[in-house]
Amino acid sequence: IKTKIFKFLKIIISSLLITVLLLFTIAAIRTLSLDVNAGLQLAHWEKTNNKSLVIDHHQREELLANFKEAIRIPTVSFSNTESNTTALHEFDRFLRKAFPTVFSSSLVHHELVANYSHLGFYIGLGHDEEISGLNGAMNIVRILKQRGVQLLFVMDEGLTISDGIIPGLEGPAALIGLSEKGQAAIKLSVSVAPGHSSMPPRETSIGILATAVKRLEDNPMPRLFGYGPEGDTFEHLAHKFSLPLKFIMSNLWLFSPLLSRILERKPVSNAFVRTTTAVTFFNAGVKINVIPSLAEAYVNLRIHSAQSVQEVESFLRMNALLCTL
Ligand SMILES: *[C@@H]1O[C@H](CO)[C@@H](O)[C@H](O)[C@H]1NC(C)=O
Ligand SMILES: *[C@@H]1O[C@H](CO)[C@@H](O)[C@H](O)[C@H]1NC(C)=O
Ligand SMILES: *[C@@H]1O[C@H](CO)[C@@H](O)[C@H](O)[C@H]1NC(C)=O
Repeated sequence: IKTKIFKFLKIIISSLLITVLLLFTIAAIRTLSLDVNAGLQLAHWEKTNNKSLVIDHHQREELLANFKEAIRIPTVSFSNTESNTTALHEFDRFLRKAFPTVFSSSLVHHELVANYSHLGFYIGLGHDEEISGLNGAMNIVRILKQRGVQLLFVMDEGLTISDGIIPGLEGPAALIGLSEKGQAAIKLSVSVAPGHSSMPPRETSIGILATAVKRLEDNPMPRLFGYGPEGDTFEHLAHKFSLPLKFIMSNLWLFSPLLSRILERKPVSNAFVRTTTAVTFFNAGVKINVIPSLAEAYVNLRIHSAQSVQEVESFLRMNALLCTL
């Protein structure tokens, strides 16, 4: 029997070793052969002439003056009724003045929404993008649809040039916003019969809601790192990492479960990994000796690109809140 067990163990161990060796070989081949320019035939971006980042004193003064002028125009909108359209028009005039080359080009048509021409390239500037864009972006979309414009792709505003922010990444990386995480708000509420604090029930509305909130925090959404645009981003940057990170980034198909567990430790990188849930409001109670009948909380969700609102909702129902709601 002993020799049989020994034989069996030997088979298991050697097949494990073979599997590991095989995975390692595949991963190593991929690390060496991953072509960052695949699919970018027109843009061998690292081999093109680049524009100098060095600007002279005069250009610097001019940029600074433009910047000063721009931020003095109060274009910030606070709500649908509180936005300064005079300022937005002034900003429009400012842009024409500050970027004469752009506006004098025959290739560029600058129009207020309502008059769009069919160009190969659109820049959509909504006036209310920080307050959901319901009047700006929505109208731009409506008009593009009306005119049968089919966009090949959409890019968001640029992100930062990350230099020394992502550990292990050598040199600066300009990140392009391809998509944005979705957003949703969920209201949790508990309603019970009100009572006097001298005869409290076993569970109050506050206690029940607090349990739900705690469960929500204890049950994070599934890890989805690598399933959204962040997967391609890291694979594309892989050749800029040094070993062993280069090996890992080139093989997210194998390492994304491991990497997710590292990234989720910090809030900043956890945001890449999953749909996040943040409880931002918790309201209950009116008087020190009254057991409130109503307790309410709001959860702000930032939805990962690889997940839908419906999936998030059913996850919440299944995992966190089923027992209390
Ligand atoms: C791009 O610019 C950098 C810094 O100015 C320079 O060192 C590099 O040689 C340039 N590359 C090309 C291909 O011109
Ligand atoms: C709106 O912006 C203009 C400048 O474009 C400014 O003069 C005016 O005071 C602003 N109005 C309000 C209510 O902030
Ligand atoms: C849109 O175009 C029409 C005719 O082409 C013109 O009469 C109108 O003033 C334009 N509206 C805006 C907001 O530019």
